[in-house]
Amino acid sequence: MRPHTPQSPTTRRRHARWAAATGAALLTLAMAAPASPRGTDRARESEPTTGAYETTSHAYEVTGPTTAAQRTAVAATGASVDAVRDRSVVITADPAQAERVRRLGWTVRALPAPPDRRDGRPATPYDFPPADAKYHNYAEAMAEINADVAAHPALMSKQVIGKSYEGRDIIAVKVTNGATRTTATGAAKPEVLFTHHQHAREHLTVEMALYLLKEFGSQYGKDGRVTKMLDNRVIWIVPDLNPDGGEYDIATGTYRGWRKNRQPNSGSNNRGTDLNRNWNFKWACCGGSSGSTGSETYRGSAPESAPEVKVVADFVRSRIVGGKQQIKAAIDFHTYSELVLWPFGWTYDDTAPGMTQDDRDAFATIGKSMAASNGYTPEQSSDLYITDGSIDDWLWGNQKIFAYTFEMYPNESGAGGGFYPPDEVIDRETARNREAVLRLLENADCMYRSIGKEAQYCA
Ligand code: ARG
Ligand code: ZN
Repeated sequence: MRPHTPQSPTTRRRHARWAAATGAALLTLAMAAPASPRGTDRARESEPTTGAYETTSHAYEVTGPTTAAQRTAVAATGASVDAVRDRSVVITADPAQAERVRRLGWTVRALPAPPDRRDGRPATPYDFPPADAKYHNYAEAMAEINADVAAHPALMSKQVIGKSYEGRDIIAVKVTNGATRTTATGAAKPEVLFTHHQHAREHLTVEMALYLLKEFGSQYGKDGRVTKMLDNRVIWIVPDLNPDGGEYDIATGTYRGWRKNRQPNSGSNNRGTDLNRNWNFKWACCGGSSGSTGSETYRGSAPESAPEVKVVADFVRSRIVGGKQQIKAAIDFHTYSELVLWPFGWTYDDTAPGMTQDDRDAFATIGKSMAASNGYTPEQSSDLYITDGSIDDWLWGNQKIFAYTFEMYPNESGAGGGFYPPDEVIDRETARNREAVLRLLENADCMYRSIGKEAQYCA
């Protein structure tokens, strides 16, 4: 196990000590997929009887790109950029996309497929392989959440905010001391949103949601800071934005390295929209997403064309009360790379229309504070590469919510693969973000206090 003591940003991501193996994708599994346990008619109709139509995506190491502009050009081939290092990136690409990257002049090397964690034991359809049994599939996560809510009815309630393409419930759990409607000073409780699992293969993010629920439920009345936050904030946890993709990724007992949702695309056999390119702010603006259905970063046919994005965007809009957005701050959890990212992704500029110097400074100050607590690297998201239609850009650009993206463990795509850390790390790597989450909650009432401008912005 790696220690995770904080290091300086320059010594962290920018060094080249990376092992070869990483999360990858092998998608041409010529086998019948088992019917979804929650399958609706639409889901059953849409289950492929053969995987032959799926293109073969795979992980590659690309050696050469050193600047954000060069990485954006790599992403423009349609590949997803999964990790960024000093002189190389790790991507998921199909053969045509890999060839396009080669033609940009970079060296492209295939990386191993996702690890086989079946341990020689038979795979259970729609379940994690035996060696990773501590991860929760969709049904297990919902059961766990129902139990948490049942155990703490005064602190938690669950609502179904909509359905995924295949008809699974997308839920939000409200966490607050229900006995009080306002803060101690009589103000409306500032609300904070945590979203998880936009990308199917990033299963550790669902565990992050389950950790937060356990922690809030068990520490209320015991830990002073947790108690104060549940008394004075409303916390919304959306534990699974992409249940269809998550179930698809584990459906065969061997990880598929799937990223997108499972929505069909008209006129194409390629499935799926990249949910984190489908949000309605500068959608498709800037070469930070793809218009090709086969791309890992396919942006969808229109903003919010993915039902999962529409459901969560509608939920966020429903928190506008009396003309005021009640949600003040947010974290969208991803894996991997150990990063704390802030908007904008659509431009390399630190400031832009809708992002003043004070906004940027507040983002960076609290982003760096959170990163100092968990040892992640803090930076503006476009320092990696350009993205458009991402959730954090929409939450800030459209709703003025201070929205961060966390890329969780691991830092590097080491043995075992970046997207599939073994279940032994779940407890450590979720608890690792406890302090960062508390810091965001504690600052959410006035993010500008962090730059000494409370009087100016929050009077
Ligand atoms: N790796 C994530 C993605 O491709 C996050 C990229 C960072 N950009 C951002 N706007 N958050 O969706
Ligand atoms: Zn992601």
